[in-house]
Amino acid sequence: MSEPSSVSSQLAGVVVLAAGAGTRMKSSLPKVLHPMCGRALVHHAIEAARAVNPADLVVVVRHEREQVVSHLADVAADALIADQDDIPGTGRAVQCGLEKVKAANGTVLVTYGDVPLLDGDTLNGLVSAHEEAGNAVTVLTALLDDATGYGRILRDGDAVTGIVEHKDATPEQLAINEVNSGIYAFDLQVLRDALGKVGTDNAQGEMYLTDVLAIAREVGGKVGALPISDALLVEGVNDKVQLATLGREMNRRIVEKHMREGVTVVDPATTWIGSDVTIGRDTVLLPGIQLNGACEIGSGCEIGPDSTLTDVKVGDGATVTRVHGVQAQIGPEATVGPFTYLRPGTVLGRKGKIGGFCETKNAVIGDGAKVPHLSYVGDAEVGEGTNIGAATIVANYDGVNKHRTKIGKHVRVGSDNVLVAPVTLGDGCATGAGTLVREDVPAGALGINEVRQRNIEGWTEARRAGTASAKAAAESRENGEGK
Ligand code: UD1
Ligand code: CA
Repeated sequence: MSEPSSVSSQLAGVVVLAAGAGTRMKSSLPKVLHPMCGRALVHHAIEAARAVNPADLVVVVRHEREQVVSHLADVAADALIADQDDIPGTGRAVQCGLEKVKAANGTVLVTYGDVPLLDGDTLNGLVSAHEEAGNAVTVLTALLDDATGYGRILRDGDAVTGIVEHKDATPEQLAINEVNSGIYAFDLQVLRDALGKVGTDNAQGEMYLTDVLAIAREVGGKVGALPISDALLVEGVNDKVQLATLGREMNRRIVEKHMREGVTVVDPATTWIGSDVTIGRDTVLLPGIQLNGACEIGSGCEIGPDSTLTDVKVGDGATVTRVHGVQAQIGPEATVGPFTYLRPGTVLGRKGKIGGFCETKNAVIGDGAKVPHLSYVGDAEVGEGTNIGAATIVANYDGVNKHRTKIGKHVRVGSDNVLVAPVTLGDGCATGAGTLVREDVPAGALGINEVRQRNIEGWTEARRAGTASAKAAAESRENGEGK
């Protein structure tokens, strides 16, 4: 799309249509709330609309109204909600939407809540073309090999004379392959007047917005069309097949954008990056990655393979291998993985480590501190430089309440400890292997449980006679290796 040149500084409004039933989705979730690359479809439509700086951004709702309105309150509190009544059709939807547009004149855009790839540049281009030509209506069109289902653009030479819906078209009109995208720029006054004249005398008994084009011409308005070359920009989601197809396409575009900004992506086809994710230069994304939500990935990191991060912050130079992470922070130059589960509230310091088969939750693990192997650390604080021995468990839950564990700086927790919360391990203390830590360990102390090991000589040969173990024990004894 060409650069916008003389876009009016503020548009009168954008009306986003989102009242339709979305029957073909066969879903209890309203169509426009289905997520794509981390945002609901209608949220994508709103982000595109914001780019043209409308005085009023209106979303027209009806089907599953409450769910849609509550989502909009979360993601676009500035959007105005217009309710469509029981008169059906895109014309009626726009008429209801215009009740929320305060301006008396100027340019107003109509877009759909289920057209996720439409972007701000395309809308700005539409506004420029519309205002430069002095049009009453400018419709964004696409040339399709298969135009089935779409409204067809009727022309008299270069001039657009109207739009005919597929269901109302003659066989000759059905042969036209220039279709109505459903995205338009209108002169607000012309649109208001024309909608007052739109009836429901058509195959579907609906108020068609498309009738406005012919009506505008009748009253002397200029009607134009702006064909776009990238038809995917205006493709709508009607079913879950299109949801997946357009979702993959949106992801392809997002991944490409990051690669152009210096992110190394080994396998774009298995790399999924949400709309709100940021990634620094020279970070390498290995195959099989999903970066969701508001992930902020630093530069020079290595992420993957096979990792899913949601709302995770990763510092520069960190390594994240086969990790499932949610609402966690990984410090610069830290390493996590493989096979590691970071739950909400995990904060790992600079050059820290959370290793294989570990799970952490609500745990602040200091700079250079390590939880290297097979451990669970929850509701805990681990000071800088501390090492947690393999297979150590923080028992944070007594079956009723959760309690906190505080481990100081440069502590050496032995392997296979159970730290029964609430408990505190002072700075520079240590615990023996297999310690059940029920009481605080003061700074600098060694905490151990006094459980003596006793060996019963000859037990295997006596009690497990005939086994491979008994034979091995006998051989060892005969060779004098028993000790
Ligand atoms: C509409 C156009 C058609 C165009 C096609 C592009 C009309 C009459 N036809 O057809 O020319 O080629 O879009 O996709 O405009 N909606 C409401 N309220 C309603 C009906 C629809 O808000 O009463 C919303 C829907 O939620 C959807 C959009 O309008 O976002 C389009 O509705 P849809 O039923 O898909 O229109 P089509 O029949 O496909
Ligand atoms: Ca449609």
